[in-house]
Amino acid sequence: MREQEKDCERILFSAEEIAAEVKKAAAWLDERYEGCEPIAISVLKGSVIFFCDLVRAMKTPVQMDFMTLSSYGGGTSSTGMPKIVMDLSASVEGRDVLLVEDIVDSGHTLVKLKQLLSGRGAKSFTVVSLLDKPSRREVDVKADYSCFTVGNEFIVGYGLDYDQRYRNLPFIGVLKREIYEK
Ligand code: PRP
Repeated sequence: MREQEKDCERILFSAEEIAAEVKKAAAWLDERYEGCEPIAISVLKGSVIFFCDLVRAMKTPVQMDFMTLSSYGGGTSSTGMPKIVMDLSASVEGRDVLLVEDIVDSGHTLVKLKQLLSGRGAKSFTVVSLLDKPSRREVDVKADYSCFTVGNEFIVGYGLDYDQRYRNLPFIGVLKREIYEK
């Protein structure tokens, strides 16, 4: 057992369950992007593990780019004011953009990204998110495709962190309250 697994009260989605959903998401994207070569954007850092698995499961050729946005700071809830920490390296003008997120929570990050990228002239914009947490939504926005819907629990693993830790757990687990209420 991994040391950090003990900090989870339970496993919500196993590595196998995640892999099966990633495959389905990739098939959905392959159908949508037939004949296209989109720019796949990983919104760092949370989406990086999902992104790497997703693009490798896709048959569609993609170009890859990365953007770092931050909304949580060191806490457990969104500040509602995502900031660009690192921008894309290439232009999205006239391109099909596939935005890959780990979670849509309040929705502020997604709204900001949609405004930003459509302002830069993206031809189309598709959002795939590993997780959807609709109970916490503050703005009316959602991903075009979500692998899992989750309740209002503090989850970590498969890219998701608490205070920059737990991202490399291969599953998604619910963090014990005593860890973040210390
Ligand atoms: C998380 C997550 C999303 C965003 C979603 O990023 O990766 O980008 O929050 O929250 P929202 O819907 O409330 O805007 P975070 O700022 O925690 O950075 P990280 O990806 O580096 O963990």
